[in-house]
Amino acid sequence: MHLYGTQAIDAEGHLTIGGVRAVDLARRFGTPLYVLDEELIRQNCRAYVDAFRSAWPDFIVAYAAKAFLCTAMAALVHQEGLYLDVVSGGELITALRAGVPAERLIFHGNNKTPEELDLALRAGVGRIVVDSFSELDLLADMAAEREVRPRIALRITPGVEAHTHHYIATGQLDSKFGIPIAGGAGLEAVRRALETPAVDLVGLHCHIGSQILDLGGYEVTAARMVDFMAAVQRETGWTCPELNLGGGLGVRYTAEDRAPTPAELVAVLTRTVRARCEAHELPLPRLVVEPGRSIVGEAGTTLYTVGAIKEIPGVRTYVAVDGGMGDNPRPALYQARYDAVVANRAAEPRIRLVTVVGRTCESGDVLIRDLPVPETIARGDILAVQVTGAYNYSMASHYNRFPKPAVVLVRDGEADVVVERETWEDLLRFDRMPERLRAGVAWR
Ligand SMILES: Cc1ncc(COP(=O)(O)O)c(C=O)c1O
Repeated sequence: MHLYGTQAIDAEGHLTIGGVRAVDLARRFGTPLYVLDEELIRQNCRAYVDAFRSAWPDFIVAYAAKAFLCTAMAALVHQEGLYLDVVSGGELITALRAGVPAERLIFHGNNKTPEELDLALRAGVGRIVVDSFSELDLLADMAAEREVRPRIALRITPGVEAHTHHYIATGQLDSKFGIPIAGGAGLEAVRRALETPAVDLVGLHCHIGSQILDLGGYEVTAARMVDFMAAVQRETGWTCPELNLGGGLGVRYTAEDRAPTPAELVAVLTRTVRARCEAHELPLPRLVVEPGRSIVGEAGTTLYTVGAIKEIPGVRTYVAVDGGMGDNPRPALYQARYDAVVANRAAEPRIRLVTVVGRTCESGDVLIRDLPVPETIARGDILAVQVTGAYNYSMASHYNRFPKPAVVLVRDGEADVVVERETWEDLLRFDRMPERLRAGVAWR
């Protein structure tokens, strides 16, 4: 088992995070509970910023809010000097509400609605990343009408298949995202944007996937993008001032994973871009990256209370917890693997295997298959599933009408709720009863 960030095991064999015992957090705030390690989030932000600072003249690190967002998270990464990449009106207003200046927002999405674009234009977001020709036309019309000139980047598909689960590989030609270099569409999009006075083209963007553990894909992508910048300059005379290479760096979900560090990623990107720029005699562009998972993933731990335990002799032991695919859909969606520790027995040797399941009405609601646990695991124990900071809360659902858990930020022995636990009343809040259904029983 690997301990992340400020996780530790205290003298009584309890897991602590941010100097607080997991069992105390569970008692105080209830379970399931997402716990975020503030110190580790800050360290991860700084790892990117420090790596760029020593290697590149002008750069932006933008936190990809889709990994996890609430107003406190937006404020935290903003404090660390990061920009925010947002993909919806909801993420956009969350960042604004947290006090992030609009010019520090990068707005993505393959099908932004007119309502969202209107919000972005009114707020004056720093960059709108245009994903298609049709969006370029829509945005140009909307901008002209409002007499504003948004700064845009074009999302380019470099044709790279990152070594990752195919559901989350987006840089290849056959993708719903972006405008491909292949076939000349990318060049045509640049031409079109330059000829559109209503928008101000400030850069090019790409993103090749997520949970990428092999930096080779980044090297090929960075080279391809600079080659494209050179082709664009040759054909149009436009020198691209800003190159956004997206996010996607993987994290260590289990002890077997080997994840490169942000510094290793930045080294590959800066080395490649510098070499290709020199080869093409291009000035060094401002570099932008958009890490999400690698900022917040390892900083998250989900605490569950163990409930029913079902032993099928000779087959397996099922340990059911009080959450599941509603708060962590990744195992069901992507066969994602996790490790976990019994927080109140964290120092005991893990000598037998159990399968951890949730409580939604789906046989596929398996959080962890074959998790090593101590000899004893019992109802009421607190199970801490690690590395749940990214794409857990943000992908949570109300399936089976389970309220969403609270999110707590821990640091130096302090714990603060940053998202309240939902209640059953919250679940009923948007229900409406048509008059004809109020009358009572119709079948009598
Ligand atoms: C455009 C873009 N940028 C950044 C990210 C963040 O990716 P990750 O959380 O893997 O770093 C994503 C997520 O897929 C994305 O689509």
